[in-house]
Amino acid sequence: MEWSREDRYRRIEEVSEEELNRLKEKVDNCHYRQKFHIQPKTGLLNDPNGFSYFNGEYHLFYQWFPLGPVHGVKYWYHLSSKDLVNWKDCGIALEPDRYFDSHGVFSGTGLVKDDKLHLFYTGNTRDKDWIRHPYQCLAIMDKDGQIKKMDKPIIDRQPDGYTDNFRDPKVFKNKDKYYCLIGAETKEHQGTVVYYESDDVLSWKFRGEIITKFKGNSGFMWECPDYFEFEDKGVLMFSPQGIEPDGDKYLNIFQSGYLVGDKINFEDGVFNHTEFTELDRGFDFYAPQTMEDENGRRLLIGWFGLPGVDCVTDENGWAHCLTIPRELKLKGDKLLQLPVEELKRFRKEKREMSFKLKDEEMTLDNFNETTYEIICDFDNFSGEKIGLKLRTGKDEETVFYYDLEDKKLVLDRSKSGKLCTEEYGVVRKCAMDCKRLKLQIFVDTSSIEIFVNDGEEVFTSRIFTKQDSNGISFFVNGSTNLKANIWNI
Ligand code: FRU
Repeated sequence: MEWSREDRYRRIEEVSEEELNRLKEKVDNCHYRQKFHIQPKTGLLNDPNGFSYFNGEYHLFYQWFPLGPVHGVKYWYHLSSKDLVNWKDCGIALEPDRYFDSHGVFSGTGLVKDDKLHLFYTGNTRDKDWIRHPYQCLAIMDKDGQIKKMDKPIIDRQPDGYTDNFRDPKVFKNKDKYYCLIGAETKEHQGTVVYYESDDVLSWKFRGEIITKFKGNSGFMWECPDYFEFEDKGVLMFSPQGIEPDGDKYLNIFQSGYLVGDKINFEDGVFNHTEFTELDRGFDFYAPQTMEDENGRRLLIGWFGLPGVDCVTDENGWAHCLTIPRELKLKGDKLLQLPVEELKRFRKEKREMSFKLKDEEMTLDNFNETTYEIICDFDNFSGEKIGLKLRTGKDEETVFYYDLEDKKLVLDRSKSGKLCTEEYGVVRKCAMDCKRLKLQIFVDTSSIEIFVNDGEEVFTSRIFTKQDSNGISFFVNGSTNLKANIWNI
């Protein structure tokens, strides 16, 4: 179906219950619906927003276009949780209903201040010539969950020197000041992050750019900036658009990654940092957002999808989901991502096994599960390849292995069922030099998230495999010891 501009800017309030029910029924009948990932009840989900801890609960919002699998007029949809496992549906939080957000309530931050959750977002507007004018806006949620928007934006339009790609406020406190980072494109089409400063989160002063050394093949627009510190280090995370592929790197349409360095000096904006590193090595990961919780953990949730590409479930009236929540740690200059501890609550029956494998492919007997967690420990290996195949069935398999000769991890989804974004390739690789290989993998109805060696690398990918492709096999060219635990979810 072709989506006209009119269709994309239809608001949910204008749609009859009957039409919504019809759409809902179509979505509910889709056999790719996820079991334990956050997904939209209809339409398209994109970035996580406002991830925070407030009033004894985690709060999470996401970008939502309710009426179909396209980027139409965006709402913030709200969920809350005590444990990051069970999420309560709190409905629509922010609607595009003011002059400063008429064409979409775009991405932003949740920040607790004075016992209230402050929700900063970009109000997207278009004038009669369809020229975009972005505003940075604030809405405040009290302990009863009542949300009130301020009457006018807190930052009006973009300063000179920047295009209308100017959005996604990340607001945080640093020492005794508040800072707001905004993703931007300069008039010369260089992606960048600018920052504002404030004493009260209401009136903001433009301070300039965060000065990085990430130039050259670095993109024209940096979306969804985030910044956090670990002891004496600072991490600037963002999702650049327009980076060209480079060997095994940057193969998806858009990237997301980070720079690690000395803490940003907010006096002059200077950030001394190491190389840009991609956060994820899989096919479907973008616009992640972090928060610090009550226990001092730095948690991350990403969009399990990408802009500008189709999704297999488009024909079923919905698209995309969010990743599982992960905890971030910094090891040297590298971010590690680990599934949060709480996810152990998903675990049901357990299977435990250990093998010595030599030049063989071994299929697990009596295994017929769609959704599970598996932890594999490969040890004492030699030869060419060790790995496993997941969601195997007639003509289908998703293959992940360690290539001992190339010293690379490889994910091959060429036979993962229905494909989308094939034009961006069907194999992803990244360098890894290891003597032991531990894989922790979460398999949902239409996705896999592979955490390698306690979060050193992660491959996040959707797979649209047939419902009865539910086998697992392990394979080795050479020899290895292998221990595996599997829990149904
Ligand atoms: C990233 C993004 C953000 C924007 C939002 C709109 O995916 O483009 O920059 O705020 O999505 O939905």
